[in-house]
Amino acid sequence: AESASVNTDIVTLTRFLTEEQAKHKEATGDFTLLCHALQFSFKAISYYIRRATLVNLTGLAGQSNATGDDQKKLDVIGNDLFIAAMKSSGKCALLVSEEEEEIIYFKDQKGARYAVACDPIDGSSNLDAGVSVGTIFGIHKLPEGSTGTKADILKPGSELLAAGFTMYGASAQLVITMKGGTVDGFTLDNSFGEFILTHPNMRMPKTRAIYSVNEGNSLFWEDSTKKYFESLKQAQSNGKPYSARYIGSMVADAYRTLLYGGIFAYPADKQNPKGKLRILYECAPMAMVFENAGGQAVNSKMARMLDVVPEDIHDKSGIFMGSYDEMEKLKSFHK
Ligand code: AHG
Ligand code: MN
Ligand code: MN
Ligand code: MN
Repeated sequence: AESASVNTDIVTLTRFLTEEQAKHKEATGDFTLLCHALQFSFKAISYYIRRATLVNLTGLAGQSNATGDDQKKLDVIGNDLFIAAMKSSGKCALLVSEEEEEIIYFKDQKGARYAVACDPIDGSSNLDAGVSVGTIFGIHKLPEGSTGTKADILKPGSELLAAGFTMYGASAQLVITMKGGTVDGFTLDNSFGEFILTHPNMRMPKTRAIYSVNEGNSLFWEDSTKKYFESLKQAQSNGKPYSARYIGSMVADAYRTLLYGGIFAYPADKQNPKGKLRILYECAPMAMVFENAGGQAVNSKMARMLDVVPEDIHDKSGIFMGSYDEMEKLKSFHK
């Protein structure tokens, strides 16, 4: 009978992970447990962001981090929530966070087989204005026999087991992808307290006339970067130029680009020859999501972002990522 129109067969993140796990005979359930801890940290961070203005969590913490950013109070709280979640999962051997100078090793977690990199709050300069921010994560599996070393995280994105992000916007949106897999999007249902599969198998549009870049830096851009963005402001074949959209939270700009198409960039420039965004917990996880959704991601030398090997945990890179055809156009300006 088709009397009720509500969906009674809801796919929660828990159900999704359980069903994924069942497809892999060798799976132990460890990854599922790690993801449970991850999703709890997203719910907790989302909660504090939404309450920030009411409970005096706006403003600066008074410290700066390893890459020179001023830490906001919520950067610190997000970081602490994430660390606690990873530690208590029992499955995380080591953690790299934007807000921690050094790698955190959970040496007492016997049998922990994952190395995690995170940006607890991405876009934190936007926090006090109530603009969307997010959390970015990348997960590597330790090689057989390793108990967790720096080398286990200083790897190219192509070796990531899983990656994704949660955007805290009008609702909290979780996007996750596994090596060689689909990109799937979940929406936090605050009444259920569950992430619900709302965007299965996300595929990026091949093309879309939207560019997203901090054009205030154009004074310092390389000529090829200038020429490329200048070209987008000219009449295209339909007579119209591209639209500009720049939020200033990578997660929010990336999420829009994933859904609508277009290109997002934070190029390296003469002032910041290594770019601004950090490889392990910003560039590589996003590049994996974009590639698995049918897009592309490259560094400022137009090399595949997922092939970039960081030398240190907070290393930065220029990045361009977007719809497949938009990225082909970009590359044609660098030949
Ligand atoms: P974070 O808040 O984690 O330090 O990251 C900030 C990043 C990223 O979210 C965004 O794309 C970029 O910085 C914005 O930088 P500008 O303000 O220089 O445009
Ligand atoms: Mn920061
Ligand atoms: Mn960030
Ligand atoms: Mn951050």
